[in-house]
Amino acid sequence: EEAAVVRPFRQRLLVVANRLPVSAIRRGEDSWSLEISAGGLVSALLGVKEFEARWIGWAGVNVPDEIGQKALTKALAEKRCIPVFLDEEIVHQYYNGYCNNILWPLFHYLGLPQEDRLATTRSFQTQFAAYKKANQMFADVVNANYEDGDVICCHDYHLMYLPECLKKYNTKMKVGWFLHTPFPSSEIHRTLPSRSELLRSVLAADLVGFHTYDYARHFVSACTQILGLEGTPEGVEDQGRMTRVAAFPIGIDSDRFIRALKLSQVQEHIKELKERFAGRKVMLGVDRLDMIKGIPQKLLAFEKFLEENPYWCGKVVLLQIAVPTRTDVPEYQKLTSQVHEIVGRINGRFGTLTAVPIHHLDRSLNFHALCALYAVTDVAIVTSLRDGMNLVSYEFVACQDAKKGVLILSEFAGAAQSLGAGAILVNPWNIIEVAASIGQALNMPAEEREKRHCQNFHHVIMHTAQEWAETFVSELNDTVVEAQLRSSK
Ligand code: G6P
Repeated sequence: EEAAVVRPFRQRLLVVANRLPVSAIRRGEDSWSLEISAGGLVSALLGVKEFEARWIGWAGVNVPDEIGQKALTKALAEKRCIPVFLDEEIVHQYYNGYCNNILWPLFHYLGLPQEDRLATTRSFQTQFAAYKKANQMFADVVNANYEDGDVICCHDYHLMYLPECLKKYNTKMKVGWFLHTPFPSSEIHRTLPSRSELLRSVLAADLVGFHTYDYARHFVSACTQILGLEGTPEGVEDQGRMTRVAAFPIGIDSDRFIRALKLSQVQEHIKELKERFAGRKVMLGVDRLDMIKGIPQKLLAFEKFLEENPYWCGKVVLLQIAVPTRTDVPEYQKLTSQVHEIVGRINGRFGTLTAVPIHHLDRSLNFHALCALYAVTDVAIVTSLRDGMNLVSYEFVACQDAKKGVLILSEFAGAAQSLGAGAILVNPWNIIEVAASIGQALNMPAEEREKRHCQNFHHVIMHTAQEWAETFVSELNDTVVEAQLRSSK
């Protein structure tokens, strides 16, 4: 007798994030063209072993009409994506407002916006109401697509209210929540008017994850101090129910970068860049144009370095790629002008008719161009004032196995905890210290560069995005199973 064919049962993973990993462009009333962003995080989450993944999120476009919504839903389904439609007003209050003007700066230690702190609690309240409403809309879409046994993995500060909404629908849902930003000291979190509500909602999840042990510890102490709950090494306990809280440091798909460097088009690009910058050392900054990235501080430190080291004028160039982001938020508009002003001043002061010290670009580069740039760089400089992890530092290290360049890294980036051994760590607020680190990096002997690089390279290739996604998702799966076992005993 033939043995029955056993089809492997593939559990489903529902990844929920504010943004879908696509850019959608409308081509007609019912037609869309989609481009999937192939970042490490995206392929890691969509490729978790043993799971069949779906991604639920906002497509980043306003689609007011039903025909357009239906067509987009259909096109996205082929890419394993499910859209949440948010109208312009919600996007304004929830995304621009509560997420990017309140939670984002607060979690990066930049405080609450002054106008909200002073009087207009009205706008704070409107924005928080919109935040909850948007999270409920995400929950509705998750619930409509949920099947028994699915594992749900919610991402980031946009969706802190989601775990509670989901558990209200169904307590059996396995819900994880992962924060990609820092979680600040509880003394900072305490200032948020909706502090308790957000903590309680996150605690409705079964597993709560952060990039570093410190962020996890801050979260647990916020729950202890603000909610009066008991924190244990495992997590937070509330009336016999345990929410597991732990650190899961993310990584990148390092192979993708290493493979790209071998492509002839990338090699060609590397050759061109080397010719263009021959005789000069190349420093590189790659950041979203965000105040947390400390771009003005980086520029001021570079200015200080040139001021004190006239020998290097004309012998070093800083390439700053500043990718525009959240351009509807006034703070980001102000930052753009501030950065342009500083770049203009430095180039005016130290430039010549044939060369400028800073090449500043307000746009992103395609993947291959970026790899080539990483590969020709002598010194990469990351001066984030705070940063959940900072994967630019990882990407740079992955592309440097030939050159063995130096990484200057802010001690306030999560990556400082993993790449601290090989990088030069700096306090980005201390312009003099950062300027000195530029000198140290440019003058570092080859032997020391190699030693530092090897330590970091080893870390980057051993701790990938794939491993991160698999660890988080399998732990989430097991956590709930264990909890159910306990309760069924
Ligand atoms: C950070 C956040 C992400 C966010 C990304 C880009 O990395 O942690 O959740 O998607 O910035 O920002 P945007 O507002 O354009 O989605």
